[in-house]
Amino acid sequence: MPVIQAYYPYLKFMHSLTNKQILLGITGGIAAYKSAELCRLLVKAGADVRVVMTAAACEFITPLTMQALSGNRVRIELLDEEAEAAMGHIELARWADLILVAPASANFISRLAQGEASDLLSTVCLATRSPLAIAPAMNQAMWSNQNTQDNMSATKQQGIHVFGPADGEQACGDIGLGRMLEPDEIALRSAGLFQCGALAGLKVCITAGPTREAIDPVRYISNHSSGKMGYALAQAAIEAGAKVSLISGPVNLPPPSHSNLIYVESAEQMLNAAIAATKEHCDIFIGVAAVADYRPEQIATNKIKKSEDAMQLVLVKNPDILATIAAQPSKPFCVGFAAETENLKSNALAKLASKNIDLVIANHATSTFNNDEASVSAYWHKGERTLTTNRKEKVARELILLIKDLIKK
Ligand code: C5P
Repeated sequence: MPVIQAYYPYLKFMHSLTNKQILLGITGGIAAYKSAELCRLLVKAGADVRVVMTAAACEFITPLTMQALSGNRVRIELLDEEAEAAMGHIELARWADLILVAPASANFISRLAQGEASDLLSTVCLATRSPLAIAPAMNQAMWSNQNTQDNMSATKQQGIHVFGPADGEQACGDIGLGRMLEPDEIALRSAGLFQCGALAGLKVCITAGPTREAIDPVRYISNHSSGKMGYALAQAAIEAGAKVSLISGPVNLPPPSHSNLIYVESAEQMLNAAIAATKEHCDIFIGVAAVADYRPEQIATNKIKKSEDAMQLVLVKNPDILATIAAQPSKPFCVGFAAETENLKSNALAKLASKNIDLVIANHATSTFNNDEASVSAYWHKGERTLTTNRKEKVARELILLIKDLIKK
């Protein structure tokens, strides 16, 4: 067992924090000392953490401590030319998959409720479209004060997630509601936010990466494909509660935890794996793989010598994996990708019809390969949607929610 897991057994429940970008906001309260442990736990769970502190928070814990634990420079000032040049406050708000404010003081909750943008943290909270969670921490009398309770109602109405507070002994000697939840509890609840349950109980099969079509024992034909989008979709589907089979061509990516990962090389192997994975039952099939359209008719047994000035390869067409699955009698909801260099929409719509699929995601071929960001438009029979350009992980989560909406209809 990895040492860290022995210390923190609950970390195994926190796999959904892996590779998540978390902006940890710290406001002024004695519970700020616990933010150090919270930051450590989030990092150990695989999250990329950036810390924003209010001026009052710096009275309780030093930015240096948080910088050492997060591995990133801590941001405090809104008007910090140097920091803004590296990542502006709007970029910071966009960067976050989750903004977690712990501890959230009574003053900060009040500013949040009013939609204030009076310092960097409140501004980032106002500018984000990502989930926002707060862990209130304050004296019990301040917590039960009607003003605070009204502010809490306002924050809940804004869709802000609230973790705690807990009941018990407080730093000031009082006993009651207002203690910040323990860091492990906050980390667990944060992990829970990424497990949306949108595809709970459904079986999903995804093809990802390129295929390799052998010419001889050392050479092959292939496509550019990092596999990042397919792996991000697999991760998002797992977090949405689906049982995922990921059929992957050769890529350099860590396997998503909790998926049934099947490695293949050629299109033929990918097709066989897809048929096997969907044979019993499959609810959703997502073809993200960049399958080679053609393969050499013959694979030479020995390495071909370069004796001639020119050579000819006879290629034969590969089976269309997505179209084959979409032609099954009990066809799953089928999603295809269209990487195009021109006429994005018309090519995508043609694919929707010719492959008899339910949804096609179009992206610009040259902008997507090995890129961490994706800029996509989704087309289905009765509608279309263009998604904001974003990291592939975020785009994947949005696509999973779109698929959930479409399969319900
Ligand atoms: O026909 P085209 O290659 O443009 O279609 C792309 C979509 O079809 C992708 O979703 C890809 O994964 C899938 N596809 C497939 N088998 C092929 C070719 C493409 O599953 N042989």
